[in-house]
This record gives sequence, structure tokens and C-alpha cells, in this order.
Amino acid sequence: MSPDTAAQGRPIVEIEGLRKTYRVGFLMRPVEAVRGVSFTVNEGEIVGLIGPNGSGKTTTLKVLLGLCAPSAGGARLFGLDARDRRAREKVGFLPENPYVYPYLTPREFIDLGARLSSVDAGQRQRRVEEAMARTGIGWAADRRVGSLSKGMLQRTGLAAALVADPQLLVLDEPMSGLDPLGRREVRDLIFEERRLGRTVLFSSHVLGDVEALCDRVVILRKGQVLVSGVIRDLVRPSATLTELTLRAASEATRAAIDALGESTRLVRAVGDELVLEIAGDEALHQAIERALSTGARVAAAVPKKDTLEDLFVRQALKSGDEAA
Ligand SMILES: Nc1ncnc2c1ncn2[C@@H]1O[C@H](COP(=O)(O)OP(=O)(O)OP(=O)(O)O)[C@@H](O)[C@H]1O
Ligand SMILES: [Mg+2]
Repeated sequence: MSPDTAAQGRPIVEIEGLRKTYRVGFLMRPVEAVRGVSFTVNEGEIVGLIGPNGSGKTTTLKVLLGLCAPSAGGARLFGLDARDRRAREKVGFLPENPYVYPYLTPREFIDLGARLSSVDAGQRQRRVEEAMARTGIGWAADRRVGSLSKGMLQRTGLAAALVADPQLLVLDEPMSGLDPLGRREVRDLIFEERRLGRTVLFSSHVLGDVEALCDRVVILRKGQVLVSGVIRDLVRPSATLTELTLRAASEATRAAIDALGESTRLVRAVGDELVLEIAGDEALHQAIERALSTGARVAAAVPKKDTLEDLFVRQALKSGDEAA
């Protein structure tokens, strides 16, 4: 077990040496969608699965849900084989493109989800109402699903995933198709699940949301784990880069800064304000001295913090990304 999986709670999801090769076309050409992926999700954690299009996120989640068979390796849920019905009963799943029967209403579809998950008959109506309220589809509860917008369909799928009060939520791109308010609502909903002691594994392309929500991330690329770890360790403040903001900067300030060479990069110049990115303490001191000597003021000097997006782009470039 890698250090970043240091247990908070017991492992709920264990993916070990997972490989999946699809056979496509008449000639059964092999497509290696997942090539030896391993990671763990512990009880009470929120873990984000990210990676470029086609990197194997959905395939990994499908194997986890027992929806497709692995070519090698495998997945365990709650300590049981992922194909074991007892394990799957504790999981709420939102597929990438939720298939919702077009002639049902959201209320009927969510109720169907509750029946399939064997929710107690006496509690079913209350659970359906709760799930609809949490996902904000109450107002469209009795429309035909076929007439709903993409975002409303997504919310219907999410409500169906939640209705049985699962211990583990597996969400394949839960923010997809949602407006900014909808995204915020889904974020709050995922946080609320954690507060309730639930475990969440979700895939997303919205890196800001992943950064805001997750304890850990797993970055896939071409079917392999490129990086995985605790977000605050992966995107810790840079020890060497500082963002320096100068005010009342003149042409002389600009020239003095330019003379510092490669250690100093101009990020933005608006009016008499300059924002610089400076590598190393020595260059920072020199920049401040020169700026002050030309009459500029130092408005801020802030250690530059990487974002998950910076990390993602850097890793993709480092590994020589062409198409995913
Ligand atoms: N049913 C299938 N048959 C054949 N190839 C498939 C099938 N499903 C996925 N693939 C291929 O497997 C690879 C991984 O696909 P997957 O859908 O798991 O990626 P993803 O990371 O979820 O991508 P996205 O971000 O676009 O959702 C891709 O090359 C894809 O074309
Ligand atoms: Mg996908």
C-alpha cells in the first residue's frame, strides 16, 4: 500500500492491478483501456479520479461496479469481490450518461431506483422526496424525462444514486451538464455525504471542483496511474516561486526588472501595476530593491501556490502528451 493511502478508515474500494482490454471491430483489434491500475479509497474519504479523455476513468468505475469484467486484476468493494451483490447493494452509482427511461417522470424513475435497491416499502416515498429535494428536481418531478434538459437529467440520475442512502457513492462526472449553481449544489451534496460518514469516489474534468472537494486524487493517463496522492501534498505552496505585485511602477521600474533576466517573469501589467513571478529568494530581494529604488511600491509578495490544474498540465507535458 502506498503511503498516500494511509488509512483513515477501512478500505471501501480496493482496485488492484486492474487491466481491461476491449476487442473492437470485426478483427477484434485490442484496445488497452486500463493497464495495471491500483488504488484504494478508505471509509469517509472523497477521492477524485481525473485524467484526459480516454484515459480509462469510466472503464475503471465500470469494473468497480461489476458492469464489465476485468481482463486481469480486479476490484473489491467493502472487502468483497466487486461482483458480489451484497457489496453492490451499498453503492449508489451515477453513470457517465445516465440512461433514464424517457416515458417515466423523475419521480417514477427515482422510485424505480429505490425499488431495485430494495428500499423498505414504508420508507420509499419519503426517500424519493428527500432525494428529489437534495438534487433540486422537485419542481420537474412529474414531467416526462424525455423532455428534460441535460442538467435536469443529470440531477435525476444523481437522485436515483442517492435514494437508497448508500454507504459509497460512485459518480462518473457528476458535474457534467450542470450550470454553476447546479455544480455548487452537487459540491455541497458531496460534502454533506462526507459529513454523514459516507465515502465518495468520483471522476471529473472540473479540476477546481476536484481540488475543492477531494482528500486525494488519482490521475490516470493512457490507462495507468500517473500520480496519486493527498491534494495538499501534491499542490503545496512552491518553496521557490513568489508572486510580487508592484504599484506606481514606471518605465524605469520595468527596465530595472527586465534586467533581472530569466528568474523574473512578467505575469501582468495593468496601468502602473506590475505582477511578477520570481524564482528564488535572491532574485526576489533584488527585484524588491530595484523596484523601490525606482519609486515603485510593493503591494504584495505571496508564495505561489500550485493548483491541481497546474499539476495536471505539468504532468501531462512531462509525460510527453500527444493525444490522450
Ligand atoms: N465499450 C468499449 N469498447 C471498446 N473500446 C472502449 C469501450 N469503452 C471505452 N473504450 C476505449 O477505452 C479507452 C478508455 O475509455 P474510458 O471511457 O474508460 O475513458 P475516460 O477516461 O472515461 O474518458 P472520458 O474523459 O472521455 O470520459 C478509450 O480508448 C476508449 O475508446
Ligand atoms: Mg468517462
